[in-house]
Amino acid sequence: MIDGFVAFGEVTEKKVSKNRMMKTICILSGTDRPGSVALKVANYIKPMYEAQGVAARVVSLEDFPAEEVAGGKYGKELPRTEAFRKQVIEADGIVMVIPEYNGSFPGILKLFIDYLPFPEAFRKKPIAFVGEASGAFGALRAVEQMQMICAYRNAHIYPERVFLQRVKSLFDEEKGIRDETISKLLHSQIEGFVQFVDQVEELESV
Ligand SMILES: Cc1cc2nc3c(=O)[nH]c(=O)nc-3n(C[C@H](O)[C@H](O)[C@H](O)COP(=O)(O)O)c2cc1C
Repeated sequence: MIDGFVAFGEVTEKKVSKNRMMKTICILSGTDRPGSVALKVANYIKPMYEAQGVAARVVSLEDFPAEEVAGGKYGKELPRTEAFRKQVIEADGIVMVIPEYNGSFPGILKLFIDYLPFPEAFRKKPIAFVGEASGAFGALRAVEQMQMICAYRNAHIYPERVFLQRVKSLFDEEKGIRDETISKLLHSQIEGFVQFVDQVEELESV
C-alpha cells in the first residue's frame, strides 16, 4: 500500500488454462473528453485483466470518428466507424467505464451504440460496468441507464458493478484506489467477470 492507496498487484494471478482459447476483453472508455478519468481508469484496469489470463484492449471513444457520422448517416457505408466498432464487437466481453454527465452517460456513448449493427452487436455479449463521477454516487445513474440499453440489446449483464465516487480524490492513475473496500470490489469484479465470460460461452454453446 502506498500513501493509503491499494496496489493493483494484490490481484491473484491466474494461469490461462491450456484447454481454452485466450479470451479478449475490450475495456471501453465511455467519453471523448480529452484527458478523461474514464480512460485513466480503463488503462489502470487493463493489466489487472491481463493478470487474469485474458487479452485486454482499451478502446477510447475519444477515437470514435464522430465527423464521419455527422448529419445522421444511419445505414450508410462508414468504413472508419465500422473499423472502430469492430474492436468492440469482436471482443468476448466488454467492460464499459462510464462517467456521469448531467445525471446520465456521455452522449458520445449513445451515438456509438446507435451506430452498432442491430440486433447482433451486443446480443449475448457479456458486459460489465464501472462508473466514475465527482458526485457521491459514482455514476450510479449513468450505469443503470446504460444497463437498460444493454439489456434491450440482449447483452448478458454482469451483476457486480463498481462505482468510483468522488473520483478525483479516490483514484490516482499510478497509485490506484485510495479505499480498500472499493479496491476489493474492483478486484472481485475483474476476477468474476473473466469467469462469467467463460460461463456465458459454455451456456451459449449448449
Ligand atoms: C458535461 C459534464 C457533466 C457532468 N455532470 C455530472 C453529473 O451529473 N454528476 C456528477 O457527479 N458529476 C458530473 N460531472 C463531473 C464528472 O462526472 C467527473 O468530472 C468525471 O470524473 C468526468 O469523467 P471524465 O474525466 O471521464 O470525463 C460532469 C462533467 C461533465 C464534463
